[in-house]
Amino acid sequence: MSMKGVVLAGGTGSRLFPLTKITNKHLLPVYDKPMIYYPIQTLVDAGIEDILIVTGGRNAGDFLRLLANGKEFGLTHLDYTYQEGEGGIAEALGLAHHFGAGHRLCVILGDNIIQGSIREAVEAFRKQPAGAKILLKEVEDAERFGVAEMADGKILGIEEKPKNPKSNLAVTGIYLYDETVFDKVQQLKRSDRGELEITDVNNAYIAEGSMTFAQLDGWWTDAGTFESLLRANNLVADTQKSKGE
Ligand code: G1P
Repeated sequence: MSMKGVVLAGGTGSRLFPLTKITNKHLLPVYDKPMIYYPIQTLVDAGIEDILIVTGGRNAGDFLRLLANGKEFGLTHLDYTYQEGEGGIAEALGLAHHFGAGHRLCVILGDNIIQGSIREAVEAFRKQPAGAKILLKEVEDAERFGVAEMADGKILGIEEKPKNPKSNLAVTGIYLYDETVFDKVQQLKRSDRGELEITDVNNAYIAEGSMTFAQLDGWWTDAGTFESLLRANNLVADTQKSKGE
């Protein structure tokens, strides 16, 4: 069965207010393109062409106007789903059930931008008999992310935005899941901030011993704060200039 892609692009983008008062975070510019172009391109470059966009908020229609059927990415079709309210990343993923049931998924957060490719990890996951795979990246500000606790080259667990991170390995917003992911989402309980946390999904895979990981090559950034949005712009600009684009 082919692997499908899901881009999660909901949320209110409150950390970028007032930039997000009028539009959705994922439509903001990152150098010369709207933010959401980058995660879509990441999926397409990895050979994933059956893609669902989960969005929400007041500007959902703008995604359809911007992306249409994905022609700019060489696609002939895109799927869209609407997330009501602010239920968290894992709730948004749960809304992909009608699209993803019975398939393996590559899920990417709409504000995650990478320099390189995830093709190798995707190929490795295709061969993995079951479970999940996450992509880790060494960072200096691990407390901003989900952080992996490691021992003897194994992943023991993930802590979401820990005050005292147990490693400098951030869990990037790129997740490979087998078809059991929707059962795991269904069993989640809301966190203290009232959301269904993607970190709890990942910890469920770790608990059953079916989580693998790889380290991402090249730079990686999110773009959900003023600092990281600026960083994303600069990284993309520098990379394109060095390629002579
Ligand atoms: C989310 C996840 C976090 C992950 C990060 C990657 O955080 O909850 O585990 O490390 O994305 O971008 P958020 O950006 O919603 O704060």
